[in-house]
Amino acid sequence: MPDQLKDQFIEELRASNDIVEVVGEYVQLKKQGRNYFGLCPFHNENTPSFSVSPEKQIFHCFGCGKGGNVLTFVMEIEGISFKEAVARLAEKSGKSLPESFKTEHVSPANQEARNILEAHQLLTKLYHHLLKHTKEGKDAYQYLIKRGITDETIDAFQIGYAPDSKTFVASFLEKKGFHLQTMVKAGLLSVTGENSYIDRFRGRVIFPIRNHQGKTVAFGGRTLTDQQPKYINSPETDIFHKGKMFFNFDLARPHIRKKSEAVLVEGAVDVIASYQAGVQNVIATLGTALTDVQAQLLRRYVDTVIICYDADQAGLEATIKAASQLKKVGCYVKIAQMKDGMDPDEYIQTYGSESFHQHVIQANISYMSFYLKYLRREFNLQLETDRIRYIEKALDYISAVDKPVEREHYLKDLADEFELSRETLTQEIRYRRRKMGKYKDNQLEERHNNSSSLKKESEKLLPAFHNAERYLLAYMVKDREIADYVQQELGGAFLINEHQVIVTYLYAFYEENHQADISSFIEYLPDEHLRNLISKIALLPVSDTTSNREIQDYINVIRNEKLRKELHKLELEQREAERQKNPVRAAQIAMEILELKKQQKHEKYK
Ligand code: UTP
Ligand code: MN
Repeated sequence: MPDQLKDQFIEELRASNDIVEVVGEYVQLKKQGRNYFGLCPFHNENTPSFSVSPEKQIFHCFGCGKGGNVLTFVMEIEGISFKEAVARLAEKSGKSLPESFKTEHVSPANQEARNILEAHQLLTKLYHHLLKHTKEGKDAYQYLIKRGITDETIDAFQIGYAPDSKTFVASFLEKKGFHLQTMVKAGLLSVTGENSYIDRFRGRVIFPIRNHQGKTVAFGGRTLTDQQPKYINSPETDIFHKGKMFFNFDLARPHIRKKSEAVLVEGAVDVIASYQAGVQNVIATLGTALTDVQAQLLRRYVDTVIICYDADQAGLEATIKAASQLKKVGCYVKIAQMKDGMDPDEYIQTYGSESFHQHVIQANISYMSFYLKYLRREFNLQLETDRIRYIEKALDYISAVDKPVEREHYLKDLADEFELSRETLTQEIRYRRRKMGKYKDNQLEERHNNSSSLKKESEKLLPAFHNAERYLLAYMVKDREIADYVQQELGGAFLINEHQVIVTYLYAFYEENHQADISSFIEYLPDEHLRNLISKIALLPVSDTTSNREIQDYINVIRNEKLRKELHKLELEQREAERQKNPVRAAQIAMEILELKKQQKHEKYK
């Protein structure tokens, strides 16, 4: 395929994949002025400094400096190559991929991961088929129906059955041409003795675990009887990292985005039951405690997480742990509670979907209320001493809440319940917050939240010529005429090295008759560092109509700085010549200096 057609295809691809939409699948974006802001998916942060420009179709993080267009975003976030990103976006927008984008060399390690992924897709279908259409699968199917899981849900989750055979899967995979040792790595088979392979999942209901693209990357197998262990799960593999993903994230994602809220439960069956009951923004960790990576991941999508863990001691403790992790990354945490040691699945089975919505999910309470309730269990509130100890402890926790409105709310509850004066309690809180060094907090937070002031502050720190170059570049990528003018006036004589490299590419870009378009220029740049930098520059607030005066001012600032630097250099040389008693050389330099000074004056009045 000729380069021109390739470029054209890429251009069409970018035009049909709006960056706000694509990024929005990974990050909760909020509009602020012309741009969108969210939490950066490339580094950990609690206040948004990641911005996306719908006009320019680019993104940039003011925190970590990453930037680019829709294609580089997909490459970065998925850790895939350019061609793979092209394929991904083509599929998304229903475009068929030209041949030249298809062929790609794959490394052996990459190939192995692909095989593992493919085996999982095939087995998902096979297990599902066995459950639904074979005699061996009948008991498992009945078991699911008895647990209240409908046919539709069985299909949606591709639930399956692994037959109670030692070699069923092993011989299936062998027939399909898979390398059995690789399948052991994949966690689908185990080795017994010499070169003898047996199935890992036997006689179990199979819950496929899908990654966020909906591809199966692991399985969980539940026994139909009371056999131990209750669940057998896939091990960690190249395609399955259980601490970095959630069960059901792919199906829940659109609902999570719509509601800006996620419901977190403990088990896979709880997810399935909740989803079926119409709570579709539901996810779970994969049999482990919530990790920091998962908390960060979730934070990018939502403000609020409703934790709905099992109503038993273990669930309570897990709730407190997960809540503190989620709060740490800036989530607002709510708790949905059930009675009598139930889990969501049992609750729905017993009381129905409607009740689950109304009396569990919607009846959620704030984390603080939950925690205060939890705390109370340690005290006998009939006793005066216990009562005081409880109030003291509650005040400690309330003091740590940063939002004044929220603090007021709990304070009121506490005052009402124990018939205390609000003034006394407010004083107690003030005292505690001062001790924690928190009484200035709000102003600080304000400043951090305001990313535009953050931007300006960092700009102020740059010397004038540096900013002049940045603004000039911002105009040049927007407008070819300006670029032509600057080329004629300054050429590549930018003082910041990276800027010099960028303009050189920009001139070449225009000479090849590309239209002014920041998103396509980003692709034109060969290295990530330059792409990050130009994305940041392109987001500078430059006006749509600029005066020649403004452009000329920037050029003058740069020229003057250049002269100043040369002068400084010459003056040093002059001093050196004098020190070495070389009057001829010194005089020569003096002439040069005079000449430069004349130029400098001239520049100033231009
Ligand atoms: P639970 O014991 O709460 O199971 O474990 P559950 O989800 O309610 O399952 P059912 O209703 O009995 O079928 C919660 C999660 O912990 C993991 C699983 O991921 C399960 O979903 N787990 C549990 C295991 O990995 N292995 C086990 O033996 C038990
Ligand atoms: Mn259960």
